[in-house]
Amino acid sequence: MIADRVETLLSQLTLEEKAGQLCQLFAFTPNNEELDAEIAAGRVGSILVMRDPSELDRLQRIAVEESRLGIPLLFGFDVIHGMRTIFPVPIAMAASWDLDAIEAGQAVAAAEARALGLHWTFAPMVDIARDPRWGRMVEGAGEDPYLGSAVAAAQVRGFQGNAIGQPGRIIAGPKHFAGYGAALGGRDYDEAEISDHELRNIYFPPFKAAIDAGAGNVMCAYMTLNGVPATGNRWLITDILKGEWGFAGFTVSDANSAFDLTTHNFAKDSADAGARALHAGLDMEMSLSTRSSAYRNLPGLVADGTVSEAALDDAVRRILSMKVKMGLFEEPYVDQTRIDGVLNDPAHRAAARTAAEKSFVLLRNEAAALPLNPAALGSIAVIGPLADSARDTLGPWVFDQNLSETVTVLQGIKDAVGGLVDVVYSPGVSMIARLNPSFFDALPGFDVAPRVEVDDNLEIERAVALAEASDCTVLVLGEAQNMTGEAASRSTFDLPGRQQDLLEAVIATGKPVILLLMAARPIDLKGAQPSAILNIWYPGTQGGAAVANTIFGKSVPGGKLPFNWVRSIGQVPLPYARMNTHQPKDIDNRYWNEQGGALYPFGFGLSYTAFEYSNLRLSTAWVGLGEDIRVQVDITNTGQCAGDEVAQLYIHQHHGSAARPVRMLKGFWRVRLEAGETTTIDFALTAHDLTYWSSADRNWVQDETAITVMVGTDSTATLSAVFEVRRNAAIFKDSD
Ligand code: NOJ
Repeated sequence: MIADRVETLLSQLTLEEKAGQLCQLFAFTPNNEELDAEIAAGRVGSILVMRDPSELDRLQRIAVEESRLGIPLLFGFDVIHGMRTIFPVPIAMAASWDLDAIEAGQAVAAAEARALGLHWTFAPMVDIARDPRWGRMVEGAGEDPYLGSAVAAAQVRGFQGNAIGQPGRIIAGPKHFAGYGAALGGRDYDEAEISDHELRNIYFPPFKAAIDAGAGNVMCAYMTLNGVPATGNRWLITDILKGEWGFAGFTVSDANSAFDLTTHNFAKDSADAGARALHAGLDMEMSLSTRSSAYRNLPGLVADGTVSEAALDDAVRRILSMKVKMGLFEEPYVDQTRIDGVLNDPAHRAAARTAAEKSFVLLRNEAAALPLNPAALGSIAVIGPLADSARDTLGPWVFDQNLSETVTVLQGIKDAVGGLVDVVYSPGVSMIARLNPSFFDALPGFDVAPRVEVDDNLEIERAVALAEASDCTVLVLGEAQNMTGEAASRSTFDLPGRQQDLLEAVIATGKPVILLLMAARPIDLKGAQPSAILNIWYPGTQGGAAVANTIFGKSVPGGKLPFNWVRSIGQVPLPYARMNTHQPKDIDNRYWNEQGGALYPFGFGLSYTAFEYSNLRLSTAWVGLGEDIRVQVDITNTGQCAGDEVAQLYIHQHHGSAARPVRMLKGFWRVRLEAGETTTIDFALTAHDLTYWSSADRNWVQDETAITVMVGTDSTATLSAVFEVRRNAAIFKDSD
């Protein structure tokens, strides 16, 4: 049915119109006559960035009513962590380890985007990031392929629902295929050099999971992967994605990345770039303008025999099927009457607040400094350049900023205590500007936060005086939103500007200091020891309300780090899943000049209560190749209040066809336990979990071996049991 409609359309298209369907253009401003003419001529298949519903309708009318065949446009947008209701940034959502909350969050984002007339998001970003210098770590799920795969699939389900074209849902486009997170030196866009076993075991799995969850689109990456630009990489796009994995959706380039095949000194010119991108398997080209479009050359390239019309047709088919599935031929326009109701739905704000509460990670809590009891406090000093910055509270990749609705930490605390506690505020220090402004800062619609600018020395003095005069200080420090994200790599992890001086001066007052870190990478506090540290990431529209609920104990933190938090930048990269090697007992002490290991390990996060693990048991002492095993453990909440725990299961393989890491996450459950309650967690460890890509065999293998299972509260869990994997288990079992 769909195929028939697509074939009928395809048969009517001229070569130029076929190339037009592959063309996606940016529309930054409305009423662009040049763009209107292109659409009317059938030379545009998709538009991105425009999000004004009236303008979207206007453009769509041109496509439907003025272009020869009336094929509707597909409207794409970076809906990364919310449209109007902004959720915590993606790394924060991953830190919740709560797949239902992640799915629900992206379903809200999809509903709001679709109500505005958008059809497709360039998300989720599923790039594994093991170098926190890379600013885009904020957009992903951290360093681990198992967590990353689960989070990727949950996001796709949230955006798309069960199938492409459901009402209130949009197409998901996992990105950036593949290996973008491994940028050399953590510098955005730089080359990635990734071995075959790292690609297969670490970088590919989240993409595979997103595709298995039904993702309709995949975006190709900017950089070169092992010497070949990802957007022109036939092995990646055609052999792996469309071949091995059977991806039936359509691929899109990153902005100008097809044209960039010339920048990479790969393609000779724009025409060569177009030919090689199409040959690689790139379906749609995202271009900053028609002048930088490599696919404009396609009609000529088909005519002179450089590329086959069959290859062009395959790309067009994939895009047309998506338009049919999305119902655009039946309902191309926006229902203007629904927009306000969807965007202002209070349930969306409530979901964002709960999601933020679930994402917070409690890194330190000396002498149960948190939660604060407002009834016992006369005054609170709220200090820091990010404490009252609505724009920063939202984080990067936010367009409809709606700052007046955004609850800052200061506002959230004031609202929570009413007039009962005296709340005083000082920014403490200025928030410095970036040394190298990002091109983003200049783009329309990417407004930079208004910067707090004060005399740092005087303001630190004032902040210290406020802290001394208050019963408790809440410090909100970290990186401004444009210091993280695309084109926001960093060569240090210090607190920007004079924030470290402020932190130390406030701690020196001897008063309780609660540090809230607003950041998406490890921050090096240089040994400073506030009473408590709560990592709040960039918590979104309801961020301040979620913070207040958490610091006053209405909500109990249960988030866990999705990356190893290094002590200093010199340790980078330091994934928890490293290989064993010579002198294994010193694995965490390889540098003579500082204590090794992570400061806070992957999976770490404290609670206001405490959990104990016991009674680890396996369903069998050994399994046959291809068989599954069940792992059970009891968890007891031994503290005084209810709370969430994320139980984590890691495995370590003793020997095999290739070496395997010291441990690898293979299961997790976030559970809520009342004080004193015990529950049993049941993990299914499958043969798939024990299978890996072996560089020795250049194939997927499952070894006959011994496996240690470790279960606990983070990646240093010690409660363990061992089982064996044997050949012909059935024979052994019968005679055992
Ligand atoms: C470039 C980014 O790399 C990509 O993630 C984004 O979706 C596009 N620009 C469109 O904004």
